[in-house]
Amino acid sequence: MTNILVTGGAGYIGSHACKALAAAGYTPVTYDNLSTGWAEAVKFGPFEQGDLTDRDRLDQVFAAYNPAAIMHFAALSQVGESMQLPELYWHNNVAGSLTLLQAAAQAGCLNFVFSSTCATYGDQDNVVLDEDCAQHPINAYGKSKRAIEDMLRDFETAHGIRHVVFRYFNVAGADPDAEVGEFHQPETHLVPLLLDAAQGKRDALTIFGTDYDTPDGTCIRDYVHVCDLVDAHVLGLGWLEVGKGSRVFKLGTGSGFSVREVIAHAGAVTGRDVPVVEGPRRPGDCTKLVSGSTRAEAELGWTPKRSTMDCMIADAWRWQKSGHYSA
Ligand code: UFG
Repeated sequence: MTNILVTGGAGYIGSHACKALAAAGYTPVTYDNLSTGWAEAVKFGPFEQGDLTDRDRLDQVFAAYNPAAIMHFAALSQVGESMQLPELYWHNNVAGSLTLLQAAAQAGCLNFVFSSTCATYGDQDNVVLDEDCAQHPINAYGKSKRAIEDMLRDFETAHGIRHVVFRYFNVAGADPDAEVGEFHQPETHLVPLLLDAAQGKRDALTIFGTDYDTPDGTCIRDYVHVCDLVDAHVLGLGWLEVGKGSRVFKLGTGSGFSVREVIAHAGAVTGRDVPVVEGPRRPGDCTKLVSGSTRAEAELGWTPKRSTMDCMIADAWRWQKSGHYSA
Protein backbone atom coordinates (compact mmCIF):
# COMPACT_ATOMS: atom_id res chain seq x y z
CA MET A 1 0.00 0.00 0.00
CA THR A 2 1.20 3.51 -0.76
CA ASN A 3 1.38 5.81 2.23
CA ILE A 4 0.22 9.39 1.83
CA LEU A 5 0.99 11.85 4.65
CA VAL A 6 -2.16 13.87 5.34
CA THR A 7 -1.49 16.88 7.53
CA GLY A 8 -4.69 18.02 9.19
CA GLY A 9 -6.23 14.59 8.61
CA ALA A 10 -8.23 14.95 11.83
CA GLY A 11 -9.92 18.10 10.54
CA TYR A 12 -12.97 18.69 8.41
CA ILE A 13 -11.53 18.50 4.90
CA GLY A 14 -8.55 16.31 5.84
CA SER A 15 -10.76 13.58 7.34
CA HIS A 16 -12.85 13.45 4.17
CA ALA A 17 -9.63 13.29 2.14
CA CYS A 18 -8.49 10.30 4.22
CA LYS A 19 -11.73 8.50 3.43
CA ALA A 20 -11.33 9.22 -0.30
CA LEU A 21 -7.68 8.14 -0.27
CA ALA A 22 -8.52 4.87 1.50
CA ALA A 23 -11.29 4.23 -1.03
CA ALA A 24 -8.75 4.79 -3.83
CA GLY A 25 -6.38 2.19 -2.34
CA TYR A 26 -3.89 4.45 -0.50
CA THR A 27 -3.03 4.43 3.20
CA PRO A 28 -3.64 7.92 4.60
CA VAL A 29 -1.28 8.69 7.50
CA THR A 30 -2.77 11.54 9.51
CA TYR A 31 -0.40 14.09 11.05
CA ASP A 32 -2.35 16.50 13.22
CA ASN A 33 -1.80 18.43 16.46
CA LEU A 34 -5.53 18.23 17.35
CA SER A 35 -5.66 21.99 17.91
CA THR A 36 -8.78 22.15 15.76
CA GLY A 37 -9.19 18.50 14.72
CA TRP A 38 -10.62 15.42 16.42
CA ALA A 39 -8.93 12.08 17.10
CA GLU A 40 -12.34 10.46 16.48
CA ALA A 41 -12.21 11.73 12.90
CA VAL A 42 -9.14 9.58 12.15
CA LYS A 43 -10.83 6.41 10.92
CA PHE A 44 -9.13 5.41 7.70
CA GLY A 45 -5.43 4.97 8.53
CA PRO A 46 -2.76 5.52 11.18
CA PHE A 47 -2.64 8.63 13.35
CA GLU A 48 0.54 10.44 14.33
CA GLN A 49 -0.03 13.38 16.64
CA GLY A 50 2.38 16.24 16.11
CA ASP A 51 2.79 19.89 15.29
CA LEU A 52 3.77 21.24 11.90
CA THR A 53 6.49 23.34 13.48
CA ASP A 54 8.05 20.31 15.22
CA ARG A 55 10.82 19.30 12.83
CA ASP A 56 12.06 16.33 14.90
CA ARG A 57 8.57 14.83 15.04
CA LEU A 58 8.09 15.34 11.30
CA ASP A 59 11.44 13.66 10.58
CA GLN A 60 10.36 10.66 12.69
CA VAL A 61 7.08 10.35 10.81
CA PHE A 62 8.74 10.61 7.38
CA ALA A 63 11.24 7.93 8.43
CA ALA A 64 8.53 5.63 9.80
CA TYR A 65 6.15 5.77 6.83
CA ASN A 66 8.24 6.85 3.83
CA PRO A 67 5.18 8.55 2.27
CA ALA A 68 4.97 8.81 -1.51
CA ALA A 69 3.28 12.20 -1.28
CA ILE A 70 1.90 14.79 1.10
CA MET A 71 -1.57 16.27 1.21
CA HIS A 72 -1.24 19.41 3.28
CA PHE A 73 -4.48 20.56 4.91
CA ALA A 74 -3.27 21.51 8.39
CA ALA A 75 -3.88 25.23 8.82
CA LEU A 76 -5.73 27.83 10.78
CA SER A 77 -8.52 28.99 8.50
CA GLN A 78 -10.71 31.63 10.09
CA VAL A 79 -10.78 34.87 8.17
CA GLY A 80 -12.07 36.89 11.14
CA GLU A 81 -9.52 35.47 13.61
CA SER A 82 -6.72 36.11 11.14
CA MET A 83 -7.49 39.82 11.25
CA GLN A 84 -7.28 39.90 15.04
CA LEU A 85 -4.37 37.51 15.57
CA PRO A 86 -2.32 37.49 12.34
CA GLU A 87 0.71 36.20 14.23
CA LEU A 88 -1.04 32.82 14.65
CA TYR A 89 -1.44 32.58 10.88
CA TRP A 90 2.14 33.51 10.05
CA HIS A 91 3.44 31.08 12.67
CA ASN A 92 1.20 28.07 12.20
CA ASN A 93 0.46 28.30 8.50
CA VAL A 94 3.63 29.86 7.06
CA ALA A 95 6.35 28.76 9.50
CA GLY A 96 4.63 25.37 9.87
CA SER A 97 4.51 24.81 6.11
CA LEU A 98 8.14 25.86 5.81
CA THR A 99 9.13 23.23 8.39
CA LEU A 100 7.04 20.61 6.61
CA LEU A 101 8.63 21.43 3.25
CA GLN A 102 12.13 21.29 4.72
CA ALA A 103 11.40 17.88 6.23
CA ALA A 104 9.84 16.66 2.96
CA ALA A 105 12.80 17.83 0.89
CA GLN A 106 15.25 16.12 3.21
CA ALA A 107 13.20 12.91 3.20
CA GLY A 108 12.99 12.97 -0.62
CA CYS A 109 9.18 13.14 -0.54
CA LEU A 110 8.74 15.32 -3.59
CA ASN A 111 5.00 15.18 -4.47
CA PHE A 112 2.90 17.76 -2.67
CA VAL A 113 -0.83 18.52 -2.86
CA PHE A 114 -1.66 21.82 -1.18
CA SER A 115 -4.92 23.13 0.21
CA SER A 116 -5.03 26.81 -0.74
CA THR A 117 -7.91 29.22 -0.95
CA CYS A 118 -9.68 31.72 -3.13
CA ALA A 119 -9.15 34.10 -0.20
CA THR A 120 -5.74 34.61 -1.85
CA TYR A 121 -7.51 36.56 -4.62
CA GLY A 122 -9.02 39.25 -2.40
CA ASP A 123 -11.80 41.60 -3.50
CA GLN A 124 -11.43 42.04 -7.24
CA ASP A 125 -14.53 43.51 -8.81
CA ASN A 126 -15.15 42.69 -12.45
CA VAL A 127 -12.15 40.39 -12.66
CA VAL A 128 -12.56 36.80 -13.78
CA LEU A 129 -10.87 34.88 -10.99
CA ASP A 130 -8.84 32.33 -12.87
CA GLU A 131 -5.71 30.45 -11.88
CA ASP A 132 -3.40 32.96 -13.53
CA CYS A 133 -4.92 36.20 -12.29
CA ALA A 134 -3.12 38.33 -9.72
CA GLN A 135 -3.61 37.55 -6.04
CA HIS A 136 -4.34 40.43 -3.69
CA PRO A 137 -5.51 38.90 -0.39
CA ILE A 138 -7.19 41.30 2.04
CA ASN A 139 -6.88 39.19 5.20
CA ALA A 140 -3.97 37.53 6.99
CA TYR A 141 -5.40 34.08 6.31
CA GLY A 142 -5.31 34.65 2.54
CA LYS A 143 -1.87 36.22 2.79
CA SER A 144 -0.53 33.19 4.68
CA LYS A 145 -1.80 30.82 1.98
CA ARG A 146 -0.38 32.97 -0.82
CA ALA A 147 2.99 32.95 0.95
CA ILE A 148 2.93 29.14 1.02
CA GLU A 149 2.13 29.03 -2.69
CA ASP A 150 5.23 31.22 -3.27
CA MET A 151 7.26 28.95 -1.02
CA LEU A 152 6.22 25.91 -3.04
CA ARG A 153 7.46 27.48 -6.27
CA ASP A 154 10.85 28.20 -4.66
CA PHE A 155 11.05 24.69 -3.22
CA GLU A 156 10.36 23.24 -6.63
CA THR A 157 13.16 25.26 -8.20
CA ALA A 158 15.63 24.46 -5.43
CA HIS A 159 14.58 21.00 -4.24
CA GLY A 160 12.34 19.52 -6.94
CA ILE A 161 9.09 19.46 -4.94
CA ARG A 162 6.33 19.16 -7.53
CA HIS A 163 2.99 20.43 -6.37
CA VAL A 164 -0.66 20.64 -7.18
CA VAL A 165 -2.30 23.64 -5.53
CA PHE A 166 -6.07 23.73 -5.06
CA ARG A 167 -7.62 27.11 -4.39
CA TYR A 168 -10.96 26.38 -2.80
CA PHE A 169 -14.04 28.43 -2.77
CA ASN A 170 -16.33 27.80 0.23
CA VAL A 171 -16.48 24.19 1.32
CA ALA A 172 -19.68 22.74 2.77
CA GLY A 173 -21.51 19.44 3.21
CA ALA A 174 -20.39 16.20 4.81
CA ASP A 175 -19.73 12.56 4.05
CA PRO A 176 -23.15 11.15 2.95
CA ASP A 177 -22.48 8.12 5.20
CA ALA A 178 -22.00 10.57 8.12
CA GLU A 179 -18.77 8.78 9.16
CA VAL A 180 -17.03 12.16 9.23
CA GLY A 181 -18.31 15.71 8.97
CA GLU A 182 -17.76 19.34 9.82
CA PHE A 183 -17.26 20.16 13.48
CA HIS A 184 -15.29 23.19 14.61
CA GLN A 185 -15.04 24.49 18.17
CA PRO A 186 -15.94 27.30 18.12
CA GLU A 187 -17.92 27.08 14.88
CA THR A 188 -17.69 30.12 12.60
CA HIS A 189 -18.87 28.77 9.24
CA LEU A 190 -22.20 29.67 7.78
CA VAL A 191 -23.76 26.28 7.01
CA PRO A 192 -23.08 24.49 10.33
CA LEU A 193 -24.10 27.62 12.25
CA LEU A 194 -27.37 27.74 10.36
CA LEU A 195 -28.04 24.06 11.02
CA ASP A 196 -27.26 24.51 14.72
CA ALA A 197 -29.72 27.39 14.79
CA ALA A 198 -32.30 25.24 12.99
CA GLN A 199 -31.91 22.60 15.73
CA GLY A 200 -32.26 25.21 18.46
CA LYS A 201 -28.66 24.64 19.59
CA ARG A 202 -28.00 28.37 19.28
CA ASP A 203 -30.30 31.36 19.45
CA ALA A 204 -29.98 32.89 16.01
CA LEU A 205 -27.51 33.30 13.20
CA THR A 206 -26.14 36.81 12.79
CA ILE A 207 -25.92 37.93 9.17
CA PHE A 208 -22.60 39.74 8.88
CA GLY A 209 -23.49 42.85 6.89
CA THR A 210 -26.55 43.65 4.83
CA ASP A 211 -25.14 46.70 3.02
CA TYR A 212 -22.84 45.00 0.53
CA ASP A 213 -23.09 45.92 -3.13
CA THR A 214 -24.99 42.73 -4.04
CA PRO A 215 -28.64 42.22 -5.04
CA ASP A 216 -29.79 41.44 -1.48
CA GLY A 217 -27.01 43.29 0.36
CA THR A 218 -25.29 40.16 1.74
CA CYS A 219 -21.99 38.58 0.70
CA ILE A 220 -21.93 36.07 -2.13
CA ARG A 221 -19.88 32.88 -2.08
CA ASP A 222 -19.35 29.84 -4.31
CA TYR A 223 -19.95 26.63 -2.31
CA VAL A 224 -18.44 23.25 -3.19
CA HIS A 225 -19.22 19.92 -1.54
CA VAL A 226 -16.39 18.57 0.60
CA CYS A 227 -16.63 15.12 -1.09
CA ASP A 228 -16.25 16.66 -4.54
CA LEU A 229 -13.36 18.73 -3.25
CA VAL A 230 -11.42 15.76 -1.89
CA ASP A 231 -12.09 13.77 -5.08
CA ALA A 232 -10.16 16.52 -6.86
CA HIS A 233 -7.27 15.98 -4.46
CA VAL A 234 -7.09 12.29 -5.31
CA LEU A 235 -7.05 13.25 -9.00
CA GLY A 236 -4.31 15.79 -8.21
CA LEU A 237 -2.26 13.07 -6.58
CA GLY A 238 -2.67 10.93 -9.70
CA TRP A 239 -1.54 13.89 -11.78
CA LEU A 240 1.75 14.05 -9.86
CA GLU A 241 2.16 10.26 -9.83
CA VAL A 242 2.22 10.12 -13.63
CA GLY A 243 4.90 12.79 -13.68
CA LYS A 244 2.88 15.81 -14.74
CA GLY A 245 4.22 19.20 -13.69
CA SER A 246 3.18 21.58 -10.94
CA ARG A 247 -0.21 23.13 -11.51
CA VAL A 248 -2.75 25.37 -9.81
CA PHE A 249 -6.46 24.52 -9.93
CA LYS A 250 -9.31 26.45 -8.43
CA LEU A 251 -12.31 24.53 -7.24
CA GLY A 252 -15.74 26.08 -7.24
CA THR A 253 -19.00 25.54 -9.05
CA GLY A 254 -19.38 28.95 -10.67
CA SER A 255 -22.69 29.52 -8.87
CA GLY A 256 -22.85 32.26 -6.27
CA PHE A 257 -25.17 32.15 -3.25
CA SER A 258 -25.77 35.14 -0.99
CA VAL A 259 -25.96 34.62 2.76
CA ARG A 260 -29.71 35.18 2.57
CA GLU A 261 -30.02 32.57 -0.21
CA VAL A 262 -28.11 29.99 1.84
CA ILE A 263 -30.44 30.71 4.77
CA ALA A 264 -33.48 30.14 2.52
CA HIS A 265 -32.09 26.81 1.28
CA ALA A 266 -31.35 25.70 4.84
CA GLY A 267 -34.94 26.46 5.82
CA ALA A 268 -36.32 24.55 2.83
CA VAL A 269 -34.09 21.47 3.27
CA THR A 270 -34.52 21.16 7.03
CA GLY A 271 -38.17 22.17 7.10
CA ARG A 272 -37.32 24.35 10.11
CA ASP A 273 -37.46 28.06 10.66
CA VAL A 274 -33.90 29.26 10.94
CA PRO A 275 -33.74 32.23 13.30
CA VAL A 276 -31.52 35.05 12.02
CA VAL A 277 -30.64 38.59 13.06
CA GLU A 278 -28.86 41.26 11.05
CA GLY A 279 -25.50 42.51 12.26
CA PRO A 280 -22.54 44.60 11.08
CA ARG A 281 -19.95 43.50 8.53
CA ARG A 282 -17.19 41.11 9.66
CA PRO A 283 -13.72 42.60 9.01
CA GLY A 284 -11.85 40.84 6.20
CA ASP A 285 -14.91 39.58 4.31
CA CYS A 286 -14.86 39.98 0.53
CA THR A 287 -18.10 41.08 -1.14
CA LYS A 288 -18.21 38.31 -3.70
CA LEU A 289 -16.04 35.25 -4.35
CA VAL A 290 -17.36 33.16 -7.20
CA SER A 291 -15.66 31.23 -9.94
CA GLY A 292 -15.75 27.89 -11.65
CA SER A 293 -13.41 24.99 -12.20
CA THR A 294 -12.86 24.93 -15.94
CA ARG A 295 -9.22 23.91 -15.67
CA ALA A 296 -9.84 21.19 -13.08
CA GLU A 297 -12.66 19.78 -15.20
CA ALA A 298 -10.66 19.88 -18.44
CA GLU A 299 -7.27 18.74 -17.17
CA LEU A 300 -8.03 16.56 -14.14
CA GLY A 301 -11.34 15.24 -15.41
CA TRP A 302 -12.98 16.49 -12.20
CA THR A 303 -16.76 16.53 -12.15
CA PRO A 304 -18.60 17.82 -9.10
CA LYS A 305 -21.36 15.37 -8.19
CA ARG A 306 -22.83 16.62 -4.92
CA SER A 307 -22.24 20.37 -5.07
CA THR A 308 -25.79 21.64 -5.33
CA MET A 309 -26.72 23.82 -2.35
CA ASP A 310 -29.56 21.51 -1.35
CA CYS A 311 -27.34 18.39 -1.44
CA MET A 312 -24.63 20.12 0.60
CA ILE A 313 -27.15 21.20 3.21
CA ALA A 314 -28.89 17.81 3.27
CA ASP A 315 -25.58 15.96 3.82
CA ALA A 316 -24.47 18.44 6.48
CA TRP A 317 -27.90 18.15 8.14
CA ARG A 318 -27.70 14.34 8.26
CA TRP A 319 -24.26 14.57 9.87
CA GLN A 320 -25.26 17.22 12.40
CA LYS A 321 -28.34 15.31 13.47
CA SER A 322 -26.34 12.08 13.85
CA GLY A 323 -24.28 13.78 16.57
CA HIS A 324 -20.73 14.96 16.07
CA TYR A 325 -17.45 14.18 17.74
CA SER A 326 -17.36 14.66 21.49
CA ALA A 327 -16.16 18.18 22.20
N1 UFG B 1 -21.53 34.59 7.68
C1 UFG B 1 -22.54 35.24 8.35
N2 UFG B 1 -22.75 34.91 9.67
C2 UFG B 1 -22.02 33.96 10.31
C3 UFG B 1 -20.99 33.30 9.60
C4 UFG B 1 -20.77 33.64 8.29
O1 UFG B 1 -23.23 36.10 7.81
O2 UFG B 1 -22.27 33.72 11.49
C5 UFG B 1 -21.28 34.96 6.29
C6 UFG B 1 -19.89 35.52 6.09
O3 UFG B 1 -19.85 36.90 6.33
C7 UFG B 1 -19.64 35.16 4.63
C8 UFG B 1 -20.41 33.85 4.45
O4 UFG B 1 -21.36 33.81 5.52
O5 UFG B 1 -20.20 36.12 3.80
C9 UFG B 1 -19.53 32.64 4.54
O6 UFG B 1 -18.77 32.74 5.74
P1 UFG B 1 -17.90 31.54 6.30
O7 UFG B 1 -17.31 32.00 7.59
O8 UFG B 1 -18.69 30.29 6.28
O9 UFG B 1 -16.80 31.38 5.19
P2 UFG B 1 -15.75 32.48 4.64
O10 UFG B 1 -16.26 32.93 3.31
O11 UFG B 1 -15.44 33.53 5.61
O12 UFG B 1 -14.45 31.64 4.55
C10 UFG B 1 -14.45 30.36 3.99
C11 UFG B 1 -13.32 29.55 4.59
C12 UFG B 1 -12.01 30.13 4.20
C13 UFG B 1 -11.95 30.34 2.71
C14 UFG B 1 -13.12 31.15 2.25
C15 UFG B 1 -13.15 31.34 0.77
O13 UFG B 1 -13.43 29.53 6.01
O14 UFG B 1 -11.02 29.24 4.61
O15 UFG B 1 -14.30 30.47 2.61
O16 UFG B 1 -14.28 32.09 0.40
F1 UFG B 1 -10.84 31.00 2.38
